[in-house]
Amino acid sequence: MVIWMAGLSGSGKSTLAKSVEHNLHEQGYLTQLLDGDNLRTGINNNLGFSEVDRIENIRRAAEVSKLFAECGIITICSLISPTIMIREMAKEIIGTDNYFEVFVNCPLEICEQRDVKGLYAKARNGEIEQFTGIDSPFENPEKPDLELRTDLESLEQCQRRLLESILKRIKN
Ligand code: ADX
Repeated sequence: MVIWMAGLSGSGKSTLAKSVEHNLHEQGYLTQLLDGDNLRTGINNNLGFSEVDRIENIRRAAEVSKLFAECGIITICSLISPTIMIREMAKEIIGTDNYFEVFVNCPLEICEQRDVKGLYAKARNGEIEQFTGIDSPFENPEKPDLELRTDLESLEQCQRRLLESILKRIKN
């Protein structure tokens, strides 16, 4: 199974992905975490943020996830994956039955206020181009398997709902 966590930079994807990986691991499941930031320092270090590069970034992440999932490893992917087309591609590569989409939803204004990495400020003053939500699109998932509102729900609530929905899906 592949848990595909999509959302804006600063929406809380990585925090939730890390905690759910930890929880699943504690329950005895084999897990693997693939995070956009980390993939981009290694396997995807030749890719930028153009539309073509983002497609390639997601294609590789989805192909790698599929290999892990085939070994029975619950693979948690945390990538912006900004467009419907990109997420459809990931779903197609992984296979509908093994793909569990989580929309980590947080309004752009809040992500920008949080600005954990200081990247929104840089995007606003033109130091970074094609930044998702600023001058590069983010299309909300239309029918995710789970939606978490990290601006409205507490971290604990999001963690609990995420874990519960994954366990429910695994046991079905
Ligand atoms: S994706 O769009 O191709 O799915 P990915 O999740 O791998 O993106 O990488 C996003 C991370 O890269 C962000 O969390 C941020 O830290 C960093 N980043 C650097 N430049 C950009 C940019 N132009 N747009 C979005 N994220 C960027």
